[in-house]
Amino acid sequence: MPESTKTAKLTIDGQEHELPMFSPTAGPEVIDIRKLYADAGVFTYDPGFTSTASCDSTITYIDGDKGELLHRGYPIDQLAEKSHYLEVCYLLLYGELPTAAQLEDFESRVTNHTMLHEQMQYFFRGFRRDAHPMAIMVGVVGAMSAFYHDSTDITDPWQREVASIRMIAKMPTIAAWAYKYSIGQPFVYPRNDLDYASNFLRMCFAVPAEDYVVDPILSRAMDRIFTLHADHEQNASTSTVRLASSSGANPFACIAAGIACLWGPAHGGANQACLEMLKQIGEVENIPEYIERAKDKNDPFRLMGFGHRVYKNFDPRAKVMKQSADEVLELLGIENNKVLQVAKELERIALSDDYFRDKKLFPNVDFYSGIILEAMGFPTSMFTPIFAVSRTVGWISQWKEMIADPQMKIGRPRQLYLGATNRDYVDIENR
Ligand code: CMC
Repeated sequence: MPESTKTAKLTIDGQEHELPMFSPTAGPEVIDIRKLYADAGVFTYDPGFTSTASCDSTITYIDGDKGELLHRGYPIDQLAEKSHYLEVCYLLLYGELPTAAQLEDFESRVTNHTMLHEQMQYFFRGFRRDAHPMAIMVGVVGAMSAFYHDSTDITDPWQREVASIRMIAKMPTIAAWAYKYSIGQPFVYPRNDLDYASNFLRMCFAVPAEDYVVDPILSRAMDRIFTLHADHEQNASTSTVRLASSSGANPFACIAAGIACLWGPAHGGANQACLEMLKQIGEVENIPEYIERAKDKNDPFRLMGFGHRVYKNFDPRAKVMKQSADEVLELLGIENNKVLQVAKELERIALSDDYFRDKKLFPNVDFYSGIILEAMGFPTSMFTPIFAVSRTVGWISQWKEMIADPQMKIGRPRQLYLGATNRDYVDIENR
């Protein structure tokens, strides 16, 4: 932790309490309230963590007003343009861009862990055919704790490293197999001569009866989707991973908890929900009706793919994703399909509408990613699993950072209790 630079003063019932403050390398200053309860006997109240830093971190920084996202200081648009997913994984995990030799070694370690334990097939086969691939992923990733005992001891840095590489390497295989299982096709084994994104596309779309050649433009677009979702500091699923692991639980169980949290439509499930919404709107002329519904306080409908807790400006990932969507759709010759027309018009109308402007609701990364994934041939149910594949490195980097921190404590929030106070039990006949 940095040295405290100044203090904040809090007065409660006339009594003053001094609270140390920390200056981050970027972002707002932070008031340290760790000793507040011991000194003043009060809690702070912040459901949804809108003003609370839950940890210190050196991995990712977001400036929501500027629309800036940095990984270890490097802007996401530069990484999306000049780097590729596995290099970004290295950067997130180890803190610096790799040399050519370091990258080669890292890529070979990941590539050599892409296969799943053969017995895991039976685990997949236990699910109903119509299971959502996210349901399968939560189960299978949690079950990795049972298949890879030799990398569950979190006190051993070597085991932590092995577990990290295993998860980054195996997650595409797990997601692809969840998909294959749901459509009744045979599992396709990974091929280690392919790059990370091409291998994933092949495991999803190849069948044993035919050769499958991955188009380099699609593989590049897939790699970009992975890169753009790789980490996003203390979001809901990452905080879930950190909280789960603060108890000392094994890494596979903790990442399964992150996947469960990601599934929700306010988080990673938004890409599926967004495409379903675009299809439900159906025609450009129906857009005003949906815009009015989104603005109506009595209607729970929200424009999926719009708004963000941190970004109060254009999501920088959305800018790159939009460009990628144009490239992919042009390649596939589907520049003017209905969904895309609705998406473009919805974006135009929402960006010029006072409600969205005043509340600073801009399109987020999920607004465009679904369009690309659908064009590539993925069903909507695969959108969130693909987000989970991408975010695995972020969860793991944050988990490793936390476990290595000597200040690590079990996460245990307090509460504002508003329930009944102590009262005597009433026998059933007297209620
Ligand atoms: N459509 C209509 N109104 C909205 C929307 C939306 N998509 N998002 C926020 N608002 C309104 C909301 O009703 C509220 O209005 P008021 O101040 O009058 O009560 C105001 O904007 C602030 O919203 P909030 O719910 O307090 O903001 P939040 O920071 O808690 O929620 C969010 C952020 C992303 C959950 C929310 O914007 C949302 O539900 N968006 C749609 C789902 C979505 O696209 N999620 C993906 C996020 S990016 C990828 C990821 O991180 O997983």
